Amino acid sequence: MKALPKVELHLHHEGAAPPAFIRQLAYERKVDISRAFDAEGGYAFEGFQHFLQVYEAATSVLRTPEDYARLTKAVLEDRAEDGVIYCETFLSPDFCGGGDVAAWRDYLAAIVEAAKQAEAAHGILWRGVVTAVRHFGPEQAKRTSLCAAETAGDWITGFGMGGDETKGKQGDFAYAFDQAREAGLRLTTHAGEFGGPESVWEAIRDLHVERIGHGVRAIEDARLVEELAARQITLEVCPGSNVALGLYKDFAAHPIARLRDAGVKITVSTDDPPFFHTNLPREYDMLAESFGWDESDFRALNQTAAEAAFCDTETRARIMKKLETE
Ligand code: ADE
Ligand code: ZN
Repeated sequence: MKALPKVELHLHHEGAAPPAFIRQLAYERKVDISRAFDAEGGYAFEGFQHFLQVYEAATSVLRTPEDYARLTKAVLEDRAEDGVIYCETFLSPDFCGGGDVAAWRDYLAAIVEAAKQAEAAHGILWRGVVTAVRHFGPEQAKRTSLCAAETAGDWITGFGMGGDETKGKQGDFAYAFDQAREAGLRLTTHAGEFGGPESVWEAIRDLHVERIGHGVRAIEDARLVEELAARQITLEVCPGSNVALGLYKDFAAHPIARLRDAGVKITVSTDDPPFFHTNLPREYDMLAESFGWDESDFRALNQTAAEAAFCDTETRARIMKKLETE
């Protein structure tokens, strides 16, 4: 599974931080976040809300553009090691300068420089999707999307929203999404993860996104499944994340195969891999084991992901070529 060329569309930059990397930074910064870790040194949390708290505690030790450059190097090296040839990561100006455009530019410059180095060293291509954090509220999301709009271009190609889906409604963030769309950014939002089908309907109706982060709880509404298939909206599905956060009891109970069989465009990602003790080869192994998917299924998934990638046509052609020849 490692050797298969892969495209990953749903990966949180901080959520991909190896725990040892965060522990080292905490040590350097003399910050005590030991409660975020278990006895083996992995991230420790119980349930979604606590996961978000531990995520933010871990992120709190990332304080400078240089920290984000180091993080980017670690994250892209790990992905390249797993056979990922193109990945998009979610970046939050909230954590990179607090939503201030000038500060965000400094963080982004450091991240881009590290991504260029990773491309030169490992051939992995990278793009960033600026991401609002839903539980920080609509006013902060406007600042975040202004950061996105001001830096839209070759590297920042999308705008999205993660965070606590149980807080507020998708439509509360319409201004932020409109501002990003007007700057030419492509749109995605987390929906149908800890919110039900109604949250996915809202994402389509009120934010006009073309991809959905997770979206798996659409399975609870047959009409919504039909709508997703008809509109060719791509789901960024992260099965291991959903199982780890208790949405489904195991891979066999996960709706990914049913969604795919209903004609919905499906891609597979890892979300926050070290938090969920996963990586993309493991996700593929589990899908192969649970649903009998084979290499042709995984190649088809990656083709779908390349088509849905928020990149320019020339980059897409490079990705397609790598998928065909590697
Ligand atoms: N931020 C990081 N991971 C997330 C997830 N799975 N859902 C919502 N927000 C997140
Ligand atoms: Zn996510």
